Amino acid sequence: MATSASSSPIIGVIGGSGLYKLQGLKVIEQIDVKTPWGSPSSPITISQTPNGVHVAFLARHGHHHQHSPSIVPNLANIAALKYIGVRFIVAFTAVGSLREEVRPKDFVVPDQVFDRTKGIRRASFFGAGEEEGIVAHAGFGQPYDEEVRKFVAETIKDVLTSSFPDVQVHANKTLVCMEGPQFSTRAESLAYRQLGGDIINMSVLPEAKLAREAEIGYVTVATSTDYDSWRDTSGPVDVAEVMASLSQNVAASNEVCLTLLDKLQPLLESRKGKAGGISGLEGSMKMAI
Ligand code: ADE
Repeated sequence: MATSASSSPIIGVIGGSGLYKLQGLKVIEQIDVKTPWGSPSSPITISQTPNGVHVAFLARHGHHHQHSPSIVPNLANIAALKYIGVRFIVAFTAVGSLREEVRPKDFVVPDQVFDRTKGIRRASFFGAGEEEGIVAHAGFGQPYDEEVRKFVAETIKDVLTSSFPDVQVHANKTLVCMEGPQFSTRAESLAYRQLGGDIINMSVLPEAKLAREAEIGYVTVATSTDYDSWRDTSGPVDVAEVMASLSQNVAASNEVCLTLLDKLQPLLESRKGKAGGISGLEGSMKMAI
């Protein structure tokens, strides 16, 4: 079922662990989208901010956290958001910290990703199934839209300064995406630091790569839950530690989201008609196939 034109959102929000719905928005409709790659992780909720900005929300792990990072239906998720007209995705995710300065409960808007799930997860719409025999190589040197990423980081800083003054916002960091479900060993955690990783999760990929192939702009908003396993002065990460940070992170993410949606929409609208359009990517896949 497609949305009516008036409620058609151009911004999609993907919620990670703990963020299964957005608070403070008026729900307009819930849509069950079927795609050639199956059903997305959750129905998509179309909501509206008090200022009238529409958003399509999808819970990456399902409303009951039933999809582990290794089995999230990423192709269906991105295809479903594309189908309902989303042009830019703000993807929330919990991360571990590989750096002292990124403390649990801090926010990070990374500028780079490092793929440790390559060959394990299907990471392309092309080359398999109905797309067997179609070869595509999308550019991914810069995984994020820099204009939007910087704008998002600044907006989050402004919001959190008043509501959560102890929380710091870091930009220009590298996010390592590892295969789970177990957390890293200490040896792995130390190695990721040497490779230049600053934060680590199990979910940014292939989501960000598939969004690129779908010509949808993408930005990660990461919230730190733990210090992973590299630190001498603390024990290895476990679920209890992650859960302890999650409730504040989810409250802060909700707060951030309301302002972010209202501010991001005009920025994206102002790009209409420019080469690359709203996402900065429209038409780019023609050159990749
Ligand atoms: N998500 C939250 N904390 C994490 C960690 N330490 N490693 C991988 N994914 C995570």
